[in-house]
Amino acid sequence: MGRITPPPIDTDRKGFMSGFGGHFATEAEARALPVGQNSPQHMPLGLYAEQLSGTAFTAPRAENRRSWLYRIRPTAMHPPYKAYVGAVHLRSGPFDEEPPSPNRLRWDPFPLPPERVDFVDGLRTIAGSGDPAAGEGIAAHLYAATAPMKDRVFGNADGELLIVPQSGALDVVTEMGVLRLRPGVVGVVPRGVRFRAELPDGASSGYICENYGAPLRLPELGPLGSNGLANPRDFETPVAAYEATTRQTETIQKFQGRLWVTTLGHSPLDVVAWHGNHAPYQYDLALFNTIGSISFDHPDPSIFTVLTSPSQIPGTANVDFVIFPPRWMVAEHTFRPPWFHRNVMSEFMGLIHGAYDAKAGGFAPGGCSLHNAMSGHGPDVASYTQAIETALKPHKIDNTMAFMFESRFVFRPTGFAMQAPQLQSDYDACWDGFAPGPQWR
Ligand SMILES: [Fe+2]
Repeated sequence: MGRITPPPIDTDRKGFMSGFGGHFATEAEARALPVGQNSPQHMPLGLYAEQLSGTAFTAPRAENRRSWLYRIRPTAMHPPYKAYVGAVHLRSGPFDEEPPSPNRLRWDPFPLPPERVDFVDGLRTIAGSGDPAAGEGIAAHLYAATAPMKDRVFGNADGELLIVPQSGALDVVTEMGVLRLRPGVVGVVPRGVRFRAELPDGASSGYICENYGAPLRLPELGPLGSNGLANPRDFETPVAAYEATTRQTETIQKFQGRLWVTTLGHSPLDVVAWHGNHAPYQYDLALFNTIGSISFDHPDPSIFTVLTSPSQIPGTANVDFVIFPPRWMVAEHTFRPPWFHRNVMSEFMGLIHGAYDAKAGGFAPGGCSLHNAMSGHGPDVASYTQAIETALKPHKIDNTMAFMFESRFVFRPTGFAMQAPQLQSDYDACWDGFAPGPQWR
């Protein structure tokens, strides 16, 4: 079996190139990239040229995502796909197994499956919105891999995958290079890019946002200026790496909500060089430049947006990926935890590690919660009481990393999620016992 070859290219960080959405050019073998044109009559090194378009050909230049891949064999060379049987808890839009619930929902962490399952078969869908056929909405999955993908790759025609590891490292060996994800380092595999998930340190589990809508991008910064939040230079895109093997390789594709499989007589991870901007990337959440109030009150949590997928309504995301990282709290005469609120947007939350400042308990790393449109939520009684009684000194919230997939579309939970023993039956109780002020008793 061939192996992923180390890149021969000098980079400022070995194996990666910096910059969000840049027009990268990378080759794992010298002179593999054509010079000055995309598809010459005679390809260097006998490779095949293939354009991979992540946006319509005619998308505006600032939105346009496409890459040219130079590969050992064309992707077109494959037998027919057949229905794939597996990934029994994977669901896709339209989500109609359960009625959308106005209730606040929260789940305890899901244990790793006792059997050996790889990244694909271990996918479990908690909730979702929209429909890949309509090109809008997302799915919130959990992944739990106890075995590496072996002689099989996965690709998703329905959307891009934002992978948020919570436990264990995940090497995502893509057509375009290798992402090295771990808790705190998230990665995005663009729509259509195929990959194999490996487990360098044993089992790995975490969260996935499958985005059916517009590709994730950096949010605008407005009055913040040209720096802050997630800075473009801190995103890392892998340099080209390939394998040249004739081992039988299962290729699984998600297409319009269903999984399909075909078997190739070679590895499709055979891209020797590529250039363009439809490419995988990873980001270390510790590099997020967190910004907040230095006077009073605190801004909307949109100030913590790492990436956003816009919808057709300006400023109203198909999905925002928002984090709640370590940060100083200095606001004076202010209720510092997240306030009570009802939001037209719907919020799916997870916790990578530590504790979340609006909840005294019940929201554990690996667990998740769902607060759909207009459902009242906020701090629990214990967090509220502590927040109004404490002396307001500068205080650092440390050792924590919660996140949110926030969407303009209501999330519909899956049957798996609603029947899971991890669904907490007493979540509402955390908001019991807010007594009226003395004036109102
Ligand atoms: Fe909220």
